[in-house]
Amino acid sequence: MTQSFTIRRPDDWHLHLRDGAMLRAVLPETARHFARAIIMPNLVPPVVTGKDAAAYRDRILAALPDGMSFEPLMTLYLTETTDAADVAAAAKSGLVKAVKLYPAGATTNSASGVRDFDKVRGVLEKMAEVGLPLCVHGEVTDPAVDIFDREAVFIDRVLDPVRKATRGLRVVMEHITTANGVDYVKSQDDMGGTITTHHLVINRNHILVGGIKPHYYCLPVAKREEHRLALVKAATSGDPHFFLGTDSAPHIDALKEHACGCAGCFTATNTMSVLAEVFEAAAALETLEAFASLNGPAFYRLPPNEETITLTKGDPVTYPDRVDSGDGPVTVFDPGFPLHWRVS
Ligand code: DOR
Ligand code: ZN
Repeated sequence: MTQSFTIRRPDDWHLHLRDGAMLRAVLPETARHFARAIIMPNLVPPVVTGKDAAAYRDRILAALPDGMSFEPLMTLYLTETTDAADVAAAAKSGLVKAVKLYPAGATTNSASGVRDFDKVRGVLEKMAEVGLPLCVHGEVTDPAVDIFDREAVFIDRVLDPVRKATRGLRVVMEHITTANGVDYVKSQDDMGGTITTHHLVINRNHILVGGIKPHYYCLPVAKREEHRLALVKAATSGDPHFFLGTDSAPHIDALKEHACGCAGCFTATNTMSVLAEVFEAAAALETLEAFASLNGPAFYRLPPNEETITLTKGDPVTYPDRVDSGDGPVTVFDPGFPLHWRVS
């Protein structure tokens, strides 16, 4: 018997598209299945102003192949000199849907991020006033804090104090990787938490046991199995706090398979098939639509998509192992198990 089900077309609430040849290579991988995505602003130089975001949006739309539909939802990169009035104007015009906070030094291209949170207080207050969400990379950068503890420590040291100091600020804790992140997000009003595809599949053993696997290295780094299980439970629960943000982050293989490899898993290509396996294994296929297609728009106060996709189970589906970026190949995330769910 063929098993199949139809859901509203999904969105990706955290995506790296890059620019130039890489943008042209990876955009179709997302647009094939996803209607919209929150586009990360960590280009070099970063997307800081409304003007930068408008120009980047134009480049994304110009890179979209004919016949594909996709709406980029733009974000601004929060710096210590970000202008609150520019942010408010970009939100009011509808161009910008969120502002992204990178603690300085936390991850790829985060050098222009925030060191002193007092310096961004005015921008955060303006965002609370106009209802513009703050997307947060939730890791402290204190070298004294172990990399596996950086998310949990961030909640106590930064996230909770910032939220308490800026009442009404709507915050998305991005790519949560711990039970601590799940518990915090779930217990708060005005908060969402995105969960990536790869953090639902891998734990830290997958990166380190039997040889180092650079294509599983990302930030925040995958944690212990008990944390992965907490993420699966949250994602498959249907709880509206949790929605898909793949954090699909392409880097060419030469920079992943390197003495100092870049952080990022490239999951745009096969995410929906991987998620269907994860949700089926959790006996929760009926909540996939909430996670991938409904909870995100509800948090961002946007309508869900009217179009649908159908997932059909059959013989294993194959996806390319690599996508050619023009600068070199980018390896597609290998979940380590066969994929049976085809998307149409
Ligand atoms: O793994 C990651 N890659 N985490 C991030 O936070 C940034 C991203 C990237 O831009 O490559
Ligand atoms: Zn990211």
